[in-house]
Amino acid sequence: MNFPIKIKPPPPQNILLVKEEPVFYIKIKPPPKQVQIIHGDAFVKLDSIKDKTVQTVCIDPPYNIGKDSWDNIENYIEWLTSIVKKLSCKMRANGSMFIFHNDMEQIAELMISIKKSTPLIFKQMIVWNKRFEGSPKKGFLDGYVMKNEMHNWNKMAEYILFYTFDNSSIIKEERKKQNVLQHTISQEILSKTGGFTGWYSNIETGKNQPTRDTMVPITKHLGIQYDDIVPKFRNLKTDHSVWNYDMAPRSDIHVTPKPVNLLKNIILHTTDPGDLVLDCFAGTGSTGKACLETGRRCILIEKDEKYYEHLIKG
Ligand SMILES: C[S@@+](CC[C@H](N)C(=O)[O-])C[C@H]1O[C@@H](n2cnc3c(N)ncnc32)[C@H](O)[C@@H]1O
Repeated sequence: MNFPIKIKPPPPQNILLVKEEPVFYIKIKPPPKQVQIIHGDAFVKLDSIKDKTVQTVCIDPPYNIGKDSWDNIENYIEWLTSIVKKLSCKMRANGSMFIFHNDMEQIAELMISIKKSTPLIFKQMIVWNKRFEGSPKKGFLDGYVMKNEMHNWNKMAEYILFYTFDNSSIIKEERKKQNVLQHTISQEILSKTGGFTGWYSNIETGKNQPTRDTMVPITKHLGIQYDDIVPKFRNLKTDHSVWNYDMAPRSDIHVTPKPVNLLKNIILHTTDPGDLVLDCFAGTGSTGKACLETGRRCILIEKDEKYYEHLIKG
């Protein structure tokens, strides 16, 4: 059976008067990329990076041993020192620098040159004991330790020079500037028997590094913070100075890629998440990969167009 259906008439149409308001567009800057890639010569492009912003510099420069077309450099020691000098200006006061190399004679010259021309302080040489699990050379290197014709042993290592700053002079300079006596700071920490000790002067002369505890009176009197002075080092208690890492898998793109895991070890020990890492000889971007995997920011510089194109493809 059909019932008549009552349809309610629609309400009278209201006319909505819309007053046009001016429209404002707010430009929202996209967040900076975690890895920034710069194309060009390190010596030139380093000038575009803000001073004192980088926590860790990690470079694998040409070794000047003729590995590839980019690996023969005139006035090599002078050239590399000039770049290291620029890099040191980019580092935070508690930053670190790591330089890969494998040629001992050039390392010796480079170390003397860095000592003469930069404020960096040599801390340690890390030995990378190159493992070969993934390498096509594994069979060869496991089978031979000596090349007959050369009468010496096969090279199984590369070296990583580790530098920081010695900031003891900052404390001394600040104390003098503020006209504070050594005695005033010293008396804040007395010996068990209540006497003066040489703890503070040992810091000024660089004999001792400040600790979190000894930094308290220094901060109180001079305003300098622990992180302004003491190189950042997160002791993961996983290593001594000889590191075993497999070589990076063979690359069709580059002859000397570095293992990402080794770079992660450097980064995890000397930076915190969000810190900035700089590598001005990027190659395949292994340092960038290590930063992505550990939540650090990174600036890469690479001169060669071919490697740069590879880098930006990700
Ligand atoms: C030893 S390789 C680095 C390899 C890298 N560590 C990796 O894992 O792939 C050195 C790189 O520095 C680049 N290079 C050489 N001279 C340069 C310069 N003046 N400025 C920037 N990059 C440079 C080379 O093109 C090469 O890719």
